[in-house]
Amino acid sequence: MNNIKLLTGTSHPQLARNIAELLRMDLTPVEWIRFSNDNLFCRIGESIRETDVFIIQTSRPPVNDILMELYLLIDAAKYASAGRITAVLPYYPYVRSDKKDQPRIPVTARLIADQLVAAGAHHVVTMDLHSPQTLGFFRIPADHLYAAPVIVDYFRKRALKNYVIIAPDAGGVARARFYAQRLSLPMAIIDKRRDPKLGREVEITYIIGDIKGKDALIIDDEITTGNTVFQSAEALLKDGAASVSACCIHGVLQGDAISRFKKSKLKELTITDTVPHDKKNLPKNLTTLSIAPLLAEAIRRIHEGESLSAMFI
Ligand code: R5P
Repeated sequence: MNNIKLLTGTSHPQLARNIAELLRMDLTPVEWIRFSNDNLFCRIGESIRETDVFIIQTSRPPVNDILMELYLLIDAAKYASAGRITAVLPYYPYVRSDKKDQPRIPVTARLIADQLVAAGAHHVVTMDLHSPQTLGFFRIPADHLYAAPVIVDYFRKRALKNYVIIAPDAGGVARARFYAQRLSLPMAIIDKRRDPKLGREVEITYIIGDIKGKDALIIDDEITTGNTVFQSAEALLKDGAASVSACCIHGVLQGDAISRFKKSKLKELTITDTVPHDKKNLPKNLTTLSIAPLLAEAIRRIHEGESLSAMFI
């Protein structure tokens, strides 16, 4: 491909390298300096004038530094006369702060959309948003990709029998239904309630659907503390499920989530590589599926002006 450049910050170098390799390109070098006053500085190492620039930056801690890197890269690309600047955000920062559901709170996911446009992004690509409406925060072209082709393919190859797909909350019903249909499996729904003041505390009230004697597979957009899936697993087993596994697209796995997973009742956990982890620290029953081929293909299609929807049929 001609006239295209791939850049990245420090959020997920391995993912960016994998995408570049699949596209048979080199990453454009970027120099980063943190000054003694903690100010951040970057310099793009070669000309990107009039080129189609893709900046790959996923959300991971420290999320605010990662965001600042992204704004600086977009600004640097703008002043370097890039032809078009596309921000590629596999895991969108502050994705769950997408609504004003309490008094006097910000809608941070929208604020970030505004900031990306103000910095100079012409186009945004992201993946498996918590709520698809978040895409509407952008007044520039924005593409919402799904890890579904990779995940469905993985589970189809395992020819799941006696399984039931579980939506861990009302908000996840459409996603769970999609996977249940693609995998030709029944589904059930958990009525999950959180204490809004505590945030991470989860209270499971009802399980709607037939799970007795079945192997339950929870499908969720992300696993952060793990409270949702760990407590869901306990509730499902208590109600008669034969086993419980989970597939969470964004494996944030914050704090002690990995050691809690090892002690949890979950049989297996499947995530994707939208968020980086040191593979050495991951247990054997945690599988990471790569979305690099999907992102590489999306970048190729955007650059060549081809449809993306054909990737998700
Ligand atoms: C919440 O509505 C989301 O869909 C996930 O269930 C949630 O973000 C998972 O977070 P945690 O692992 O901290 O329970």
